[in-house]
Amino acid sequence: MEKTRIAVLVSGGGTNLEALLCAKENGKIPHGDICLVVSSKQGVFALERAKNHNVKSVVIEQKDKELFENELISTLQNEKIDLVVLAGFLKILTERFTKLYSNRIINVHPSLIPSFCGNGFYGLTVHEKALDYGVKVTGATVHFVNEIPDGGKIILQKSVNVCKNDTPEKLQKRVMKQAEWVILPKAVELVSKNLTKEKNKK
Ligand code: GRF
Repeated sequence: MEKTRIAVLVSGGGTNLEALLCAKENGKIPHGDICLVVSSKQGVFALERAKNHNVKSVVIEQKDKELFENELISTLQNEKIDLVVLAGFLKILTERFTKLYSNRIINVHPSLIPSFCGNGFYGLTVHEKALDYGVKVTGATVHFVNEIPDGGKIILQKSVNVCKNDTPEKLQKRVMKQAEWVILPKAVELVSKNLTKEKNKK
């Protein structure tokens, strides 16, 4: 059986990448292989994590959007990547890219979509807005990526309670630990299973 070949795109610390690499090593992603890590920034800790787990990594620092995507596409094609996972990847991809990899790009977002999502909602801002609004429950969402920021079909969601004296930082950590690191590997296996089936039919 030819497994789904996965690339993880990162821009920072890479704790979600770590969750994926550990899940793979623990047999929780039997239908996928994490073949490549692509970072949009040099020197980020996610690259160390890739190295520690013996996964090939590439840095693409091109500022121009079109040139960035050209390089990204040829890198993914060279590695025969079937599934692209955005894990703390801070660049917005154009419609050209999302159409090319339609139903083959997934993202993890730290809120229960459709709350606190879309343009400008990333990092701590998401949790600041949730606390400002006064929600009692938040969480994380894994979804397919299309041309609308955080607008693609939802794959998995998990809720997390907001606590009385929460700060954005405390809430961010809880959402990662209780939701993001749990549902991202599960969603990757779910999608890989389907893609693997498709791939082996041909
Ligand atoms: C996570 O909160 C993720 O939901 C968001 O960016 C953050 C990345 O964290 N898209 P890390 O780089 O995986 O540690």
